[in-house]
Formats: sequence, structure tokens, C-alpha cells
Amino acid sequence: MAAIFELSDKDVMGRIGKLRTAHGVIETPTVMPVIRPGVDASRMKKFGTEIIITNAYITYRSEELKAQAIADGIHALTNWDGPIMTDSGSYQLYEYSDIELENSEIVTFQQEIGSDIGVPLDIPSAIDTGYEEVKRELEITLERLREARLIVDDEEEGMILAGTIQGSIYPDLREYSARKASEIGFEIYPIGGVVPLMERYRYSDLVRVILHSKMNLEPSAPIHLFGAGHPMVFALAVALGCDLFDSAAYALYAQGGRYLSPMGTYFIEEMAYLPCSCPVCSTSSASELQKDVDLLADHNLYISFEEIRRIKEAIREKRLWELVQMRVQAHPRLLDGLKTAVGFAEFIEQFDPVSKTSFFYTSPESAGRSEVVRYINRLDRFELDGTVLITTEKRSDLDYDHLFILKAPFGPCPIELSETYPVGHAETPENPDAEAMVRAASGTRRLIELNPQAHFVLVCERRWEGYLADLAADGVEIHWRE
Ligand code: GUN
Ligand code: ZN
Repeated sequence: MAAIFELSDKDVMGRIGKLRTAHGVIETPTVMPVIRPGVDASRMKKFGTEIIITNAYITYRSEELKAQAIADGIHALTNWDGPIMTDSGSYQLYEYSDIELENSEIVTFQQEIGSDIGVPLDIPSAIDTGYEEVKRELEITLERLREARLIVDDEEEGMILAGTIQGSIYPDLREYSARKASEIGFEIYPIGGVVPLMERYRYSDLVRVILHSKMNLEPSAPIHLFGAGHPMVFALAVALGCDLFDSAAYALYAQGGRYLSPMGTYFIEEMAYLPCSCPVCSTSSASELQKDVDLLADHNLYISFEEIRRIKEAIREKRLWELVQMRVQAHPRLLDGLKTAVGFAEFIEQFDPVSKTSFFYTSPESAGRSEVVRYINRLDRFELDGTVLITTEKRSDLDYDHLFILKAPFGPCPIELSETYPVGHAETPENPDAEAMVRAASGTRRLIELNPQAHFVLVCERRWEGYLADLAADGVEIHWRE
């Protein structure tokens, strides 16, 4: 099958892509609004919707909707002529376990009603389920994925198939799930079973789940984060390589009186002002939104698509990490999630573009950026002998064979490269924080260890003493400047 997903721009692990379906091409990252079967979706256009998602199982179990869908197709049923993804009913199965539904039946049905993206009947394991049980459920999911792949031919122009990754919070099961799904081969890989993690603000687990899945999937395959509809998680998820989101949140949150924002959630009852300029918020007051759940839902979708556009522009400008750093301020547990992602910097670094225009150090998590990890890794490219000065002072000493400027968070940088990317293009605070200094010190240590034949001299501001003083024991000559 011809490539159905093409990437045009990248930053961190995020990308802008084009996904081809039988009903047209969509640009990712994007949000798919969840539409109840039988409801007119044409009003979704105004938000910038390119693709909707609806539920095949709910359509299937209603005699009336089922008959209509088979006769006229899912596009007529939803009054939407663009791409449509259908979900299989896994989630209904998960919430109401008495449902009887065959995988082959629901996969064939999705094909019959003309879905553009179909989903086999995976099992989203509950997050408190033990390892052995999750493994058993995962094997059933994989069997169903194999069965679906036999039903839905990947050579044809019709429905493309999404193979959902499960495995709960167990890293090795997520990895196994992703590896096996890749072997079967799907056009899209949703990461499933994460709604309970997001509901409980377990963002560190969410980050691990995404990355352990990603590590075992083809890097170029489109990834859908199933059930993620809150705009505050979009930037982080995109930065970790997710391309598609689905939002039932816009309506569910509105029903609960909640006003979405990429900086978190507000209770509309408690609001006096609307910090948004969408068509709803620029023409209504907070008290009007308190009385009108449809208006509130509209705002929730407008703001979700606004965030997607902001993320795409950040990818173009190579400033996605900086946007993520702002977004994780919405909740301390999101910040935990970013810190967990920093622990995977060596993996993330492989995807992150090698050259960008700028680097802004805006909070301690900047110290874990790929640019920094990559820079310190590449210090092994220097072969030094003779005398080496590493200094925080701007000077052009002719008395040394090599001159390095010490700059947090990168570490030592040869004076000749100090104006070039990344070090020379980095906007960093004049008072670096501890994380930046720890990184820079580790780079310094690495350069010294890699060059045992050279004689190192450190001339540094006193603030570095706590980070570098121990190097004196290794024969480094150190002078502190006040
Ligand atoms: N919707 C939200 N989570 C899931 C999931 O894990 N699988 C499927 N099929 N649908 C979902
Ligand atoms: Zn608004």
C-alpha cells in the first residue's frame, strides 16, 4: 500500500503530517470530535474539524441506526462527508461487561457502513488489574487484531485499520503489544487504556505508556492517543509523538459545567470573566455560558482546535518544547509527566531536529532538552592535549592550547563554536538554576575524563564551587572568581 502518512515538519518527537483516507486527506496533529451515532455532525466544520469519530457498536446495537447505516452509510448517517473514524465498542464493553459482541462482526460492520478508519475490539485493561490478567487480556486483543487484519485487506483503497496498543501500566507489556501490533501491520496505532490514567492525573504513567509504545512502533506511523480530549495534554502528547486525539471531553466537560483551557479547567459557575476570544467568548458573558451548555461545549471545542494550531505553529518554529514547558504548569502532575519524559531524553533526542533557530531556557526542565543531551554526548568529538582552559569569563587567552567557555546547561564549549547553534543561539538566564549547573558540570566532567592526557585549568565564578570543586582531586587546577 502507498504511504498514507507523510510528515512535513518535526520538532521534539512531534510532527505535522498528512494522513490519507478514502474521504480525503487530513492534517495532523488534530482532534476528532466524538459524535453520537445519528447526530448531525455538519456543525463541527466551523471549529476546524477535519475528521470526526463515532461509535460503531452503538450504531450496531440500535436496529434503526444499524439499518440506516447499512443502507446509506455512516457518512449519510452523520451528515459528514469528510473522513470518519469508528470505534469498535471496546469502551462500552469495558464499562458494561455484559455485552456480547464478536470482533469479526464489528470489524465487518465498520467496513460495511463505509468507515474510513476502523478499530478492532481491543480490551482496555483496568489500571488496577494485575500483570498476569493484563497479559491474558493483551493476548486476546492481539488475536483480535490478527483476525481484523485478515478481514480488512491492506492493499485496498477502502477502510484503513487502527491496531490499538494495550498492556496497562506495565512497560514490558506495552512494548510487547507495540511490537506484535507492528508485526501484524496497521495504518494507525492508537494507544489505548489511558483514560483512567488521565482521569487520575497519572501523567507520569501516561508518559511512560506513550514512550514504551513508541519505542516499539515504526517511527513514521501515525499515533492516536485514545480518549485524550483535554487541551492541556495536547502539547505534551504531541511532543512525545502522538498525532491524533479524540474529544468527547468538549461535551462531557460542558455537561459538568467545566470550561476548558490549555492552562487547565475552570468551573463556569465560578467565573466572572472569559479569558478567551473564540466566537462564543467574544460575544457572550460568563453568566450566559453558565446557563447554556451548548455554548460552553462550543467554546470547549474552539479552544481545543486553537491549541492544536498553536502546537502546529510551535512545531514549525521549533519551539514545541517551550510550549510544553508552559503547558505543564497547568498541574503539578503534568510537570511530573514532563520530568518523566526528560528521563527518556536519549530516546527523544534521536527524533529531535539537529538544528533549530533558537533555544530558550525557561525552567529547570529545559536542562533535559535533547539539545543539551546531544551536546554533552558529542563532547567525545574533541581530542585535546596540551593545556585546556575552561572558564566562565569572556576572554581570549593565548596562553592555553584550547579555550572553552563554560555555559549552563550545556557545559564547556570551544570559543570557536560559542556563537554557533546550539550554545551560541541559546538564551539562558544569567543566574542559572541548579539543574542547568548540574548538567553543565556533568559535561565538564565528561570532557575532562575523555582527555586524560590534557592538563585542565578551571577559572570559574564562585557559584560553580558546589558543582565542580571535587575536580581538584583529579588534578584539575581551579581558580574561583568572585
Ligand atoms: N476509547 C478510549 N480508550 C479506548 C481504548 O483503549 N480502546 C478503544 N477501542 N476505544 C477507546
Ligand atoms: Zn472561548
